[in-house]
Amino acid sequence: MTNGYRVAVVGATGQVGSLMLELLRGRSFPASEIVAFASERSVGRELEGGLVVQGLSDESIQDFDLALFSAGGSTSGEWAPRFADAGAVVIDNSSRWRMHDDVPLVVSEVNPEALDHHRGIVANPNCSTMQMVVALKPLHEEAGIERLVISTYQAVSGTGRGAVEELLEQSHALLHEREIAPPSQYAHQIAFNALPHAGCFADGDDHTDEERKLINETRKILDDPEISISATCVRVPVITGHSEAVNVQTRDALSPERARELLAAAPGVTVLDDPDDALYPLAIDAVGKDDVFVGRIRRDPGHQRALDLWIVSDNLRKGAATNAVQLAELLHERGLIRAQAIGDRPAGSRA
Ligand SMILES: NC(=O)c1ccc[n+]([C@@H]2O[C@H](COP(=O)([O-])OP(=O)(O)OC[C@H]3O[C@@H](n4cnc5c(N)ncnc54)[C@H](OP(=O)(O)O)[C@@H]3O)[C@@H](O)[C@H]2O)c1
Repeated sequence: MTNGYRVAVVGATGQVGSLMLELLRGRSFPASEIVAFASERSVGRELEGGLVVQGLSDESIQDFDLALFSAGGSTSGEWAPRFADAGAVVIDNSSRWRMHDDVPLVVSEVNPEALDHHRGIVANPNCSTMQMVVALKPLHEEAGIERLVISTYQAVSGTGRGAVEELLEQSHALLHEREIAPPSQYAHQIAFNALPHAGCFADGDDHTDEERKLINETRKILDDPEISISATCVRVPVITGHSEAVNVQTRDALSPERARELLAAAPGVTVLDDPDDALYPLAIDAVGKDDVFVGRIRRDPGHQRALDLWIVSDNLRKGAATNAVQLAELLHERGLIRAQAIGDRPAGSRA
């Protein structure tokens, strides 16, 4: 690799896409050219930094080394295999390919070795899963996680730009004693509310898809199908920054002091844990930062081998864009960007 990679960012006008563009530049990723893609609505629009948005077509997707996707599951379903067939390695933020057996689901601090087996598409985990496993990894290595009971408090930016606008419009209307428009992003008013309904309910399932992602992706990333997991995902009127209350039951004994020590030494984790001084992670403080913040580390009074943690991170950064760019960096460092053979794609991934 001498002149740098030709990189596509698909969904470049969105929250995650625009941050990926910023991070590729800010972290000096070795790109010779970056091309921004979005929907037909945005074609021709000039983005910050002078990139002009392109549309996806069989011609426009040729000759890329790397393609970072954040344009929703259906766009990834259709276009990620096409980019991969044209020779690019795809890093996909959507849930479309995450649970596919041939697609590594990777968090840079947790299971980077999984990248070695990629076959053209690499998946970036769901934001709530991502921040949680960064904190759980050192505890799992030390004492083996047996069971997790998780409640999330998820920010609206996790739903997309439209949801942020809806929260702000509703808040503004209510503060000015005006009627709000019927909600379009969520089933109910999100302003001044908490919705036990993050994601959607698939037919016949009493869990939302967000809860299923948290359960299934955690097991895949930690490579341990035996961990039993209970999850309730709640959407709250926070713009950015997911918070999670996690009860961690381990196979071996683990004291809060030892957990604090392990977390303080873990890559990508910052411990903020001094309740007497009102010090614990807060969503508003996590915004714009790449770390996962952990606090309220304490013994569960109801179980000898369980701890309670409070885990917070910026869902658009570590929960999406930062990890995607970190995966690009790891692929580069491991010489995995041009190493794949055309035709060796995940089974069923051809468009
Ligand atoms: N937000 C998070 O916390 C988070 C975390 C992890 C993963 N993700 C995933 O990342 C993706 C994007 O999230 P976001 O929050 O950035 O959403 P967003 O702000 O709503 O942006 C969506 C992006 O997708 C583009 N797009 C939509 N339809 C398209 C099409 N048919 N062809 C090409 N581009 C299309 C949009 O382009 P236009 O501007 O032209 O419409 C825009 O660039 C989703 O898959 C989401 O699940 C998000």
